[in-house]
Amino acid sequence: MKTLVTGGAGYIGSHTAIELHDAGHEVVILDNHSNSARAAVTALRSLTRHDLPFVECDIRDATALDGVFSEGGFDAVVHFAALKAVGESTVEPLRYYDNNVAGTARLLDRMAAHGIKTLVFSSSAAVYGNPAAMPINETCPPDPQSPYARTKLIVEELLRELQAADPDWRISILRYFNAVGAHASGAIGEDPCGVPNNLLPFIAQVAVGRLERLSVFGDDYPTPDGTGIRDYLHVIDLAQGHLKALDYLGRNKGVFVHNLGTGKGRSVLDVVRAFERACGRSIPHRIAGRRAGDVVVSYADPTKARDELGWTPKYDLARICTDLWRWQSTHPHGFGDQKA
Ligand code: NAD
Ligand code: UFG
Repeated sequence: MKTLVTGGAGYIGSHTAIELHDAGHEVVILDNHSNSARAAVTALRSLTRHDLPFVECDIRDATALDGVFSEGGFDAVVHFAALKAVGESTVEPLRYYDNNVAGTARLLDRMAAHGIKTLVFSSSAAVYGNPAAMPINETCPPDPQSPYARTKLIVEELLRELQAADPDWRISILRYFNAVGAHASGAIGEDPCGVPNNLLPFIAQVAVGRLERLSVFGDDYPTPDGTGIRDYLHVIDLAQGHLKALDYLGRNKGVFVHNLGTGKGRSVLDVVRAFERACGRSIPHRIAGRRAGDVVVSYADPTKARDELGWTPKYDLARICTDLWRWQSTHPHGFGDQKA
């Protein structure tokens, strides 16, 4: 298959590009580098030992998309390109709607014009908001709590309407839980801009000495150790989910929604201890106040992905931490350590 990976220089897109390439796909990467380094593409090429085609372009640029698609031969698009910072989306909602919603509409329009009607879309567990019951399955009513989460839900609805209007579309909506870890080679990994918002990148930067200590956002939640609980999924397991979704779309027309998570909830302190074991250092931390907008507990019911896609995650939290530490300890400043 010839597959376009939008946002393929980013964290999840780059790991998925490798897995697609290794599975025999002809991969073309597209990214505007709004949140990724040029060196990520260099690292992908050296890791795959292949001169992976890369197009620097914005998904909102119809002319540029036409240029890419008119090359011909594309079978599918795996669409990661989006802005993803929840807090930032509350400050700059227009930028999020323009990039994530209008950008996706433009991409779909140009795909249709070129007869490409197979898409895997990166949605998020954030569409569920604060569900009443755990684990979360796909029938749980969406209740997005931020402009970011709402952009994902709006695109999901747009995709359903598109498929209703043209039943030739084959669309997989994947709702990811917390993507973490890095490629086992240590050559690529997550490289957040500025101070990380997310737990594991923050802990990894404390371990490597870039940050002084972790603030644990609340220890008075109604959970066994009082800290928040999440479903941490190795990015390679997540990447594999996309391959399974593409296989599924090869056999089925329609719109399909699947959670990608492990089904296991881990507390903030569980993660701190697991990372300490992986890196052999202690992670200084202090208890801080709760972070506004945090849900208490969130973990997936991944049964539907297992039964329909044949997808089961392989890697546990220990492996997540070992792989993340290999990346962070060899690239203390992320891709900033490499020449583009
Ligand atoms: P990322 O920021 O590392 O990757 C996104 C990539 O898309 C970046 O390289 C960025 O430069 C590119 N991009 C953004 N807007 C673009 C545009 N208009 N045109 C071209 N390229 C553009 O983020 P990620 O963590 O790899 O997330 C990938 C996808 O998964 C996103 O859609 C995100 O919303 C979704 N998601 C991520 C998580 C997570 O835990 N990381 C969880 C749920 C959903
Ligand atoms: N946490 C801390 N200290 C930190 C960072 C996080 O204690 O410095 C805690 C949070 O309070 C939470 C847990 O660690 O209990 C996980 O927080 P993250 O910020 O890593 O992840 P979230 O679950 O808040 O959100 C992430 C992405 C969303 C995505 C969601 C999917 O940021 O975009 O996972 O489940 F939608």
